[in-house]
Amino acid sequence: MRKLPRLFENNRNWATRIQAANPDFFKSLVAQQSPGYLWIGCADSRVPANEIVGLPPGELFVHRNVANLVIHTDMNCLSVLQYAVEFLKIEHVIVCGHYGCGGVIASIEERPHGLVDNWLRHIRDIYQRNQDALGQIKDRKQMLDRLCELNVIEQVINLANTTIVQDAWNRGQPVTVHGWIYDISDGLLRDLNVCLQSLQELQAIQNQA
Ligand code: CO
Repeated sequence: MRKLPRLFENNRNWATRIQAANPDFFKSLVAQQSPGYLWIGCADSRVPANEIVGLPPGELFVHRNVANLVIHTDMNCLSVLQYAVEFLKIEHVIVCGHYGCGGVIASIEERPHGLVDNWLRHIRDIYQRNQDALGQIKDRKQMLDRLCELNVIEQVINLANTTIVQDAWNRGQPVTVHGWIYDISDGLLRDLNVCLQSLQELQAIQNQA
């Protein structure tokens, strides 16, 4: 099926519904976007960014990749971040992971998954660095949940270490980086309390680790 009619029909219904509720909705979006938040999340189809936080088009700037990673050489993610911070002046950057993340699980499996293993290697590094603490968690699901959390915390620190966030802080532009995790089984977000809004806070969390 080359045209995927169900999706086009859904789209027409969606646009009609929105237009009926607010006739100027699309017109106002054409003029500009001024989202208040940048969401960096997993590509997983069960974690739809806008829906989870109940935000309509125009209010959430979104970047998603496998296992919500922020890698210092990933020009895709860094370009999104730069545009968000320097041009859209977004103040809140959210890294949102999720429990049961296939990327996190695959990262510590012994069997190969092909090219994606190079990407997931970043998570395996986190696993190896935290092997003592993780090894004490006997229940495998709980251990994987913890690794999902540690992965989010690592990405929050990576974000805070980018030139983009550091330059913003140095010129006094407010940027706050948040680390959250989403539970697919109940639809709820949890704040991991790794909120960073200054170099001092970054240094404090790095000294802890
Ligand atoms: Co995932």
